[in-house]
Amino acid sequence: MAERNILITGGAGFIGSHVVRLFVHKYPAYRIVNLDKLTYAGNPANLADVEGRPNYTFVKGDICDMDAVRDLLSRYDINGIVHLAAESHVDRSITDPLAFARTNVMGTLSLLEAAREQWGGCYDGKLFQHISTDEVYGALGPDDAPFSETTAYDPHSPYSASKASSDHFVRAYRDTFGMPAIVTNCSNNYGPCQFPEKLIPLCINNILHRRPIPVYGKGDNVRDWLYVEDHARAIDAVFHRGRPGESYNIGGGCERKNIDIVRRITEIVDRLTGKPSGTSLDLIAYVTDRKGHDLRYAIDSAKLAHELGWRPEVALDEGLEMTVRWYLDNRAWIDDITSGEYMKYYDSMYGGR
Ligand code: NAD
Ligand code: TYD
Repeated sequence: MAERNILITGGAGFIGSHVVRLFVHKYPAYRIVNLDKLTYAGNPANLADVEGRPNYTFVKGDICDMDAVRDLLSRYDINGIVHLAAESHVDRSITDPLAFARTNVMGTLSLLEAAREQWGGCYDGKLFQHISTDEVYGALGPDDAPFSETTAYDPHSPYSASKASSDHFVRAYRDTFGMPAIVTNCSNNYGPCQFPEKLIPLCINNILHRRPIPVYGKGDNVRDWLYVEDHARAIDAVFHRGRPGESYNIGGGCERKNIDIVRRITEIVDRLTGKPSGTSLDLIAYVTDRKGHDLRYAIDSAKLAHELGWRPEVALDEGLEMTVRWYLDNRAWIDDITSGEYMKYYDSMYGGR
C-alpha cells in the first residue's frame, strides 16, 4: 500500500468524525491529520476514542488561513485531502450568509490553492476529495426523477449556493490545473454526534425535555435520509477507488416527509423511555416555513453502486433506532452542548477559539 498522509478537514464535526474514525481504524499505516477550527459545530468529544492513536493527529486551525494550511500540507507531506469543513446549517445561512461564503467558498479555494502550491504540478498519487451536498441541485417536484450526476446545478439557499460555488472551484482546479479531484454530493445524513440544530437530533432532544418540536410549514417537505456511517463508507470507497475527475452522488434511496420522520422519532423515543405510545405527539408544533424551503431532495446513486459496489447498509428504521439509542445513552453529550459546557472543555484543551 502506498504511503498515505491524509488531511481530513472538519473532522471534529458530525460526518467528519465518522470519516476520521473509519480511516484511523481501517488504515493503521496511514497518517490521518484532522484540521478543524472547532466552530460551534466542532466537538473534540466526538473523537475522544481516537485521540492518542499513533496514526492520528489533531490540528486546530482555519481552512481560510492559507499560511497555516501551507505549513500543515508541507509538514505532514499530505498527498490526499478529504475536505468536509464547512458551515453546514441552512437556517444559519439565512441569518448569516457571509459566514457561508467565507468558509465554504473562500476556505475551499484557499485549500485548493495551498494544495496546488504544495503539489507543484506533480499530481501523481495525489487526490482532492470534496464532500458536498445534494442541495446544489435545487428542489424536485413530487414526480421528478431523483438527482443524478448530470442534473444541472440550481441552488436556492445561501448554504447550497456556497456549496455549489465550492464544487465549481474544485472542478475549475481539475480543468485548469489538472488537479486530480473528486466531488461527492450526498443526501441528508443522520446518526450519532449530529449537532442538535438539525431536524432529527433536535426532535430527539426536544422530546426528552418535553419541548415543542418545530415542524416547518406543513411538514410535507421530503428528504432522502442516509445513515452517517454509510456516508463514511461511501467516502472511503470513492477516495480509494473512485475515478479522479468524476463526481459521485451518494444517497439513502430513502425518501420521507419531515412529518413522518418526526412522528417515527416520537414513537421510538416514547417506546425506549417507557412512555405509552403517542405520549409525545402533542409536542409537534407547526411553525412558519423556512424561507425558500426546497420541497424535495432525492438522490440517484446508481453510478456509485455500479462502479464501486457501494450500497447503504443501514435501513432507515434500524438507523433511527440506533440514533435514538445513542442520544439516550449519551445524554451528557447533548446536555453539554445545550448548556455550553462543551465549549469550556475544548477551550481548556485547545486554548479558546
Ligand atoms: P458539521 O457542521 O457538523 O461540521 C463541520 C465541521 O467543520 C465542524 O467540526 C467545524 O468546526 C468545522 N469547520 C467549520 N468551519 C471551519 C473552518 N473555517 N476551518 C476548519 N474547520 C471548520 O457539518 P457536517 O454535517 O458534518 O457536514 C460535513 C460536510 O458534509 C459539509 O461540507 C457539508 O456541506 C457536507 N454534507 C453534509 C450533509 C448532512 O446531512 N449533514 C449532507 C451532505 C453533505
Ligand atoms: P435540516 O436537518 O436542517 O437539514 P436540511 O435543511 O439540510 O435538509 O432539515 C431537514 C428538514 O427538516 C428540512 O426540510 C427542514 C425541516 N426542519 C423542520 O421542519 N424543523 C426544524 O426545526 C428543522 C431544523 C428542520
